[in-house]
Amino acid sequence: MDIWHVRGGNRLFGSCRVQGSKNATLPILAASLVLPARSRLRNVPQLKDVAAAKEILTHLGCRLEDETDGVLLVDSTAPCGAEVPRALMGEMRSSVIFMGALLARCGEAKLSLPGGCQLGKRPIDLHLAALRAMGAEIREEGGDLDCRTDGLHGADITLRFPSVGATENVMLAACAAKGATRIRGAAREPEIVSLQEYLRSLGAHVAGAGSDTITICGVEPRRETDCTLPGDRIVAATLACACAAAGGRILLSGVDPAHFSTVLHFLNEAGCDIIQFNDVVEIASSGALRAPGRIVTEPYPGFPTDAQPLLMAALLRAEGTTLITETIFENRYRQVSELRRLGADIRLSGPEAAVRGVERLRGASLTASDLRGGAAMIVAALGAEGETAVFDAGHIRRGYEHLDDRLCALGADLWIEHK
Ligand code: EPZ
Repeated sequence: MDIWHVRGGNRLFGSCRVQGSKNATLPILAASLVLPARSRLRNVPQLKDVAAAKEILTHLGCRLEDETDGVLLVDSTAPCGAEVPRALMGEMRSSVIFMGALLARCGEAKLSLPGGCQLGKRPIDLHLAALRAMGAEIREEGGDLDCRTDGLHGADITLRFPSVGATENVMLAACAAKGATRIRGAAREPEIVSLQEYLRSLGAHVAGAGSDTITICGVEPRRETDCTLPGDRIVAATLACACAAAGGRILLSGVDPAHFSTVLHFLNEAGCDIIQFNDVVEIASSGALRAPGRIVTEPYPGFPTDAQPLLMAALLRAEGTTLITETIFENRYRQVSELRRLGADIRLSGPEAAVRGVERLRGASLTASDLRGGAAMIVAALGAEGETAVFDAGHIRRGYEHLDDRLCALGADLWIEHK
C-alpha cells in the first residue's frame, strides 16, 4: 500500500516532459505478437500495466530487452505460445487485446476475462462478435475464453459503439485474415492512429485510423521496425489540472496539445491561460477558477472520460456550479465520495454530477479505488489546505510514471509512504 501525502497550498512552476502513452503502448505490445519481428519501441513508459503486458509477452515466448531511456526491444520471432495465465490476465483490462493478436499469430488463444479498473460492467461483447464474424470460434466458460480458428477471413464489421479495445482487437486479427476487413463505427482515439502506424511499419496495409472507418487488407511482412510512441494525453491532462487546482505556470512537452484539446478548452473557460505551440503547451492559473459550463464525456474527439475525474478535482473550488455528464462508463464517479471528505460539494444523479464550488477544501484521508480517481485525489489535495493522505493500493502507478517526482519537481509538497 502506498500512502501519498500532499500538503496543499504550493503553486506549481516549471516544465515537464510528459511520459509515453500507456494506452498507445499496451495495444502495440500485443501487436508485436501478430507477426514474427524485432521491434525497437521508444518512449515506453515504466508502468505497472506495461510491466504486466511485458510479462505476458515473455510468458508467450518473446524475448524482451530494456535499453536505456524508455527504449524496449521486443523480439517475437520465436514460436509463440497461445495461453495467457489467469494471474497475468487479471492485472488489467487491455490484456483482452491479446485475444486478437494470438488468433492472428497462432490461430488460437486461451485467456480469461480481463481485470482492470472497476468502472462498470465493461463487457467484451463487441470484441467477441467481431472476431466471430472473422471466423473465430470462441467458447466462454467460467470467465475463461477458449478461442480457435481454421483461418481468419476478412469481414465488414460495424461497431454499435466506438469501443477502443474492440477496434484494436479487430485491427490485430485482420492482419492475418484472408481478404479485406472494414471496421465501421471505429474508435478514433490517437492511440488507434499510433497502432495503425506500428502495424504499417510491420508491413500491414491499414488505412483510416483516426476516422470512423478503418480498412485492413493483408500484410507484406517486415522483420524489423523502430517506432516512437506518442506522449500520454491523459497524463498531460492530469498535470494541467494539477496546475489549474494549485495555481502557477507550467510548460508541458512531449505530447500533441491537439490530443487533449477538449481538456485545455475547459481549463481555458475556467480561467486558465493556455498557450500552445507545436508539441509544447503552457498552462497558467491563479488558482481562482470559475465553472466552465457543461462537460459531457464522449468518444474521441469529444471530452475524454479518463479526464472527467481530473477536471472535476480541479474545479472543486471554482466559482459557480459545473455540470458533468458521464456517458461512457456507468460507474465512473467513485472518486466523488472521497472528494467530499475534503469538503467538496458534489451532487450525483445517475450519470450527472453537479459540482458547486466551495470556498476552501481541507486535507483529509482518502482511498483511491481506480487509476484516474486516485490521480484526481492528488489534484484535489494540491488545492486543499493542510495535509491529505491518499491510500492507494497501487492504482496510480498503473498509469503514472514517477508522478510524485514530477509534481515535486514542479513545487508540490508531496511524498509517498510505503506501507
Ligand atoms: C480504453 O478502454 C482505455 N483503456 C480506457 O482508459 C478508456 O477509458 C476507454 O478506452 C474509453 O476511452 C486502454 O486503452 C487500455 P471501450 P476500453 O471498449 O477499450 C463499452 C485508463 O484510465 N463496451 O472504449 O476498455 C464499455 O463497457 C483507462 O487509462 C461494451 O459495451 O474502453 C464502456 O462502457 C480506463 N462492449 C464503453 O464501451 C464491448 O465489447 C467504452 O469501452 C466493449 C466496450
